[in-house]
Amino acid sequence: MRLVSEGPSPRLNAMCGIVGYVGQRSSSEVLMSGLARLEYRGYDSAGVAIVSDSGSLVSHKRAGKLGVLAEDLANSPLESGSTGIAHTRWATHGAPTDANAHPHLADDGKLALIHNGIIENFHELKEQLVASGETFSSDTDSEVAAVLLGIAYRESRDLTQAMVNVVGRLEGAFTLLIVHEDAPGVVVGARRNSPLVIGVGEGENFLGSDVAAFVAYTHKALALGQDQIVTITKDSIDVMSFEGEVVHPPEFTIDWDASAADKGGWSSFMAKEISEEPEAVANTLRGRLSPEGEVTIPELDSLDVSLIDRVIFIACGTAAYAAMLGAYAMEKWSGIPVTVELSHEFRYRDPVVGAGTLVVSVSQSGETMDTLMAVRYANELGAQTLAICNTQGATIPRESDATLYTHAGPEVAVASTKAFLSQTIAVYLLGLYLGGHRGFVSAELAAQTAQDLHNLPGQIQEMVSTGPRIKELAGWMADTRSVLYLGRHVGYPVALEGALKLKELAYIHAEGFAAGELKHGPIALIEPGQIVFVMVPSPRDPSSLHNKVVSNIQEIRARGARVIAIAEKGDAAVLPYADEVIAIPPASPFMEPLLSVVPLHIFGMELAAAKGLDIDQPRNLAKSVTVE
Ligand code: M6R
Repeated sequence: MRLVSEGPSPRLNAMCGIVGYVGQRSSSEVLMSGLARLEYRGYDSAGVAIVSDSGSLVSHKRAGKLGVLAEDLANSPLESGSTGIAHTRWATHGAPTDANAHPHLADDGKLALIHNGIIENFHELKEQLVASGETFSSDTDSEVAAVLLGIAYRESRDLTQAMVNVVGRLEGAFTLLIVHEDAPGVVVGARRNSPLVIGVGEGENFLGSDVAAFVAYTHKALALGQDQIVTITKDSIDVMSFEGEVVHPPEFTIDWDASAADKGGWSSFMAKEISEEPEAVANTLRGRLSPEGEVTIPELDSLDVSLIDRVIFIACGTAAYAAMLGAYAMEKWSGIPVTVELSHEFRYRDPVVGAGTLVVSVSQSGETMDTLMAVRYANELGAQTLAICNTQGATIPRESDATLYTHAGPEVAVASTKAFLSQTIAVYLLGLYLGGHRGFVSAELAAQTAQDLHNLPGQIQEMVSTGPRIKELAGWMADTRSVLYLGRHVGYPVALEGALKLKELAYIHAEGFAAGELKHGPIALIEPGQIVFVMVPSPRDPSSLHNKVVSNIQEIRARGARVIAIAEKGDAAVLPYADEVIAIPPASPFMEPLLSVVPLHIFGMELAAAKGLDIDQPRNLAKSVTVE
């Protein structure tokens, strides 16, 4: 069910982390641990503000990583208090300096504000405020909101009312949290086009950019809707619309533990998340697919399946490759025409979409702005919308008619790994579900596919154990400047995914090609020593693709390429032509890509490690791309 109506379309948004707390604990501890769990979102400065037990507002903020702030606070602790807000900032307006970091203070230092997003009309608001004598100490758009809220609080002496009075003056995207020393025990938040989730505790309540901010303390949460304001005290949560109408937000239970978002002894989150790929697939399947191949997904009941005559997937990056891969199976199993589009392309053309079109968004975070805007566009056009998402309480599911959660567990590393596999499985399930409803899948095919899918976690585990060998390969290639990836049919999206991982993790030029396209241009890139990964279909595959891909290998080998083939165990045809073969266990054509992608994930990670790069937070990237 769609819970939220469309909001205005922001052009930009930022990817900051936000935490708010009211309770009985030391807020400094709660806030800093929340920020640590939101680190993956990407940031360049951090800060915290607390209403102290003695009734004064104290704050500290620093450019740089959280450790810089933590060290300062360890050396000069803030006065303790059990109400506070904290922020990690990803710079948009103004450089990442101490002054531009949040919180921003107003009302003579008695009010503190943190902000995620961009206030698009800040320039004109700031001019008006400066003209009326207000002063500013940062270059940010956010400080304008702080100053406005300070003035509004002086007028109303009510923090919630101040927020109501100010949000209507702001244009753009924002999550705002404020505290005031004259209102101890209260945090007020507001959101428009930027995420904010409420954590419900006993004698304490929380606010966060996502549930990771407070999952260590509570598993009960409320999803704040678009254009809503929330006021928390330790014993109460009040939500209203920007217009002041009371709202009862839907409650949900967070189905993973805080430990799931810890590294747990792994060298990086990415290493941990690759090790979780088998489990992620098992979790996506759990309880949804009988041995006979019957799919039970009550979450899809709100869709009118009888109307669907076409499916369009919208997604970005890795999620788009998962959709591409899943689409091959879905079209075959359901008989429904399926296309896949990048969300940002879909939104800016005039697609022919109506009630018969099911628009399926795929998004791990459920907050990707490009995909969110495309979902809103699909809703406007009258399509049925389904979200395939991993993150409870996220915005895209709230704005879709139905949601199929992947249940892959939190993915913290910026480079998406286990989400790719679980998203693909979710699309496969959807394909079987639609095919079943239309009577398109035979009982034999459904049962065989169910068996193949249930075998997958074990087979993926085998692939995860290729890690040491892949690490050796990556070690030899640390100086490589370019790597190509070739695949056909379902191997093609895997080639694209392998190349994306290498670009973002190891900063190496990498391209994925459909192998059939080679002679139409890309073969000109092959020169002696060029490394090419090739996804080789099984020789048992009834199509002739195996032979065609082996011919492609011969063509590039003849021109000096160094070939790393990912091929079925015992495939003798590739051996004479490959410099290295990574063997995958025998699997059916639609399962193979979920095996061959695993060594590519490991390769990207190990090459980044061999180059001494930051695996979990590659340069210029953030996990949740809330920038359009
Ligand atoms: O959260 P989403 O699944 O919507 O994210 C989509 C892409 O931004 C994401 O997959 C991105 O391409 C990853 N960094 C790739 O590893």
